[in-house]
Amino acid sequence: MSERLEDIAVQMVAGGRGLLAADESTSTIKKRFDTINLESTESSRRDYREMLFRSDEAMKKYISGVILFEETLFQKAADGTPFVDIIRAAGSIPGIKVDTGAKPMAKYPGETITEGLDGLGERLAKYYDAGARFAKWRGVIAISSSLPTRGSVRANAQALARYAALCQEAKIVPIVEPECLMDGKPGDHNIDRCAEVTEATLRVVFEELADARVSLEGMILKPNMVIDGKNARKASVDEVAARTVQVLKRTVPSAVPGIAFLSGGQTTEEATAHLSAINGFDLPWLVTFSYGRALQDSALKAWNGKPENVAAGQREFTHRAEMNSLAAKGSWKKDLEKAA
Ligand code: 13P
Repeated sequence: MSERLEDIAVQMVAGGRGLLAADESTSTIKKRFDTINLESTESSRRDYREMLFRSDEAMKKYISGVILFEETLFQKAADGTPFVDIIRAAGSIPGIKVDTGAKPMAKYPGETITEGLDGLGERLAKYYDAGARFAKWRGVIAISSSLPTRGSVRANAQALARYAALCQEAKIVPIVEPECLMDGKPGDHNIDRCAEVTEATLRVVFEELADARVSLEGMILKPNMVIDGKNARKASVDEVAARTVQVLKRTVPSAVPGIAFLSGGQTTEEATAHLSAINGFDLPWLVTFSYGRALQDSALKAWNGKPENVAAGQREFTHRAEMNSLAAKGSWKKDLEKAA
């Protein structure tokens, strides 16, 4: 496997494959496990992730890389095989979430700044040695009638750019994720407001990336789609796709090899339908998925924390991965869901 950043970046988004975001922090995975009344422990987290990573067909055919939480990067399957080895054996690339979370931003009520820059260079060297070849940092942008502020967008974009530069020095491809929230509070903004905020945010992010001397060819962008807030949904699939493509074409240089969307609170099938419709356009980048909830929700339910349901959980995960892989090629159809 090539170690050039440009080659790794293309491998992450090419061929109809996409990323599995399995990097839920300890507090986020607890929330997910709460929905199936399962206690979150080191071994329940291991069992759940082992189910996903040992879904051979999904991992080989549809998943180009897996974003891991630090615990998982160094964790072993029940039989002692390091997860990193299982992921690599399937031809997939291990990656690592390196931010330490979005924290309330001083003097900016209702907004957050993502932390994790201190000591990041040393941490990246450790993650590289453990096998990680890409990383993720999520900046969170709140949307309301009065938010975001310029100050918060600028601060988050600067942090994303500092992170990306450090990654490239460490031979790790940065996934740059500025998420304009669909499911924040109050979540009643419409698609026009989302378009306006996403466009303004991406402009600032690419300005900061340039100032930080980040090589666009060696990064992946992970944006939100342009979509109504969670409590104001009404735009059609075609409208979401058209508005998303319009904003991205206005702001994302074609030197960026790939875009991998987050799902952000869309239902599993919506996230697939939107991605497929977006890929119906003529685009200058490879466009795929980097879904967390939209790839995992149905698998988590089917598994339900029980060893006897591992095969059922893997079937669900494989199905969603296949549907999203079709969407990454623009060839998903609703009746394929029913057929399955
Ligand atoms: P969702 O697809 O569930 O939004 O998660 C993706 C992710 O990695 C968010 O940082």
